[in-house]
Amino acid sequence: MSTATARACANIALVKYWGKRDAEQNLPAAGSLSLTLGALVTETTVTFDPRLSTDELVLDGAVAGPAETARTSGFLDLIRAEAKLATRARVTSTNDFPTASGLASSASGFAALAVAASTAAGLVTSPRQLSILARRGSGSAARSVYGGFVRMHAGHATDGSDCYAEPMTSSLTEGVRMVIAIVGGGAPKTHGSRDAMDHTAKTSPLYQAWLELVPHDLAAAEGALSSGDLVALGTIAEANALAMHASAIAARPAVIYWQPTTLALLAEVRALRARGKAAWATMDAGPHVKVLTSTGDAEAVAAALRPIASEVIVSAPGGPVSVST
Ligand code: PMV
Repeated sequence: MSTATARACANIALVKYWGKRDAEQNLPAAGSLSLTLGALVTETTVTFDPRLSTDELVLDGAVAGPAETARTSGFLDLIRAEAKLATRARVTSTNDFPTASGLASSASGFAALAVAASTAAGLVTSPRQLSILARRGSGSAARSVYGGFVRMHAGHATDGSDCYAEPMTSSLTEGVRMVIAIVGGGAPKTHGSRDAMDHTAKTSPLYQAWLELVPHDLAAAEGALSSGDLVALGTIAEANALAMHASAIAARPAVIYWQPTTLALLAEVRALRARGKAAWATMDAGPHVKVLTSTGDAEAVAAALRPIASEVIVSAPGGPVSVST
């Protein structure tokens, strides 16, 4: 029996990944750029046990359903093939944040699983190989291998060998915070990101414009990171998220993640800016609003959003994935 435990932080994209060039391998159609979040952590233990006849998955203390177990098992098959191993595994995973809230649990989840499973399988892997492996589970997971600001390369190779994430150093890293405003109640989660981005790519008349926009936003965001310009970074992040959602809203039929509370939060973020606060919003495949801000303004932003959201989490940047045996 061999076992390993990994901890990975979730990440929130400031320039979004929305659309694939290869669905089977999770190869993104364009690059992306994210911030890893220290407050949202997944801890995953993988034990390869010769006594097991099937893989087992326990998520937040409960035995996972067949769909989630099959997705995990398919991912473990990649590692077993690489390690020339037939043994089944027991996987226990806990999120220290609400899984069902639609926060980025697949990013931290597959990054932690990739690292725990490859360590338990005895594979010696570089961070880049781990990023490539995590990507097979979920595109955004490739970025959660690293801490701080992270850039994901779209790459060109059909085997995905040049499609990985890497960390970006910036003078902004220490001084930023992300305020996460959770929108609860209301409609159940409508579309998973996987299906929704494929549907947008196939049917949205705005998808081509989205794809043409991403390289410009990436270049501008990278410029803002290297010059330490938080206003420029926030402005790009908010505009990019709105463009991603515009492409999804224009899909036929529409993919609309926003609820009335989402719009109320977006209005409050604009009001905060008008009052001179550092605050720029981004949204993913759910109704929640995440606000990029500065260390100094984080509490004021959180206080303004608390009466509107069902829960508010303030996060500092997180570190890279870690593992122990
Ligand atoms: O990694 P996935 O398949 O869950 O897709 C993530 C998609 C977004 O969260 C909307 C954007 C992103 O870059 O994280």
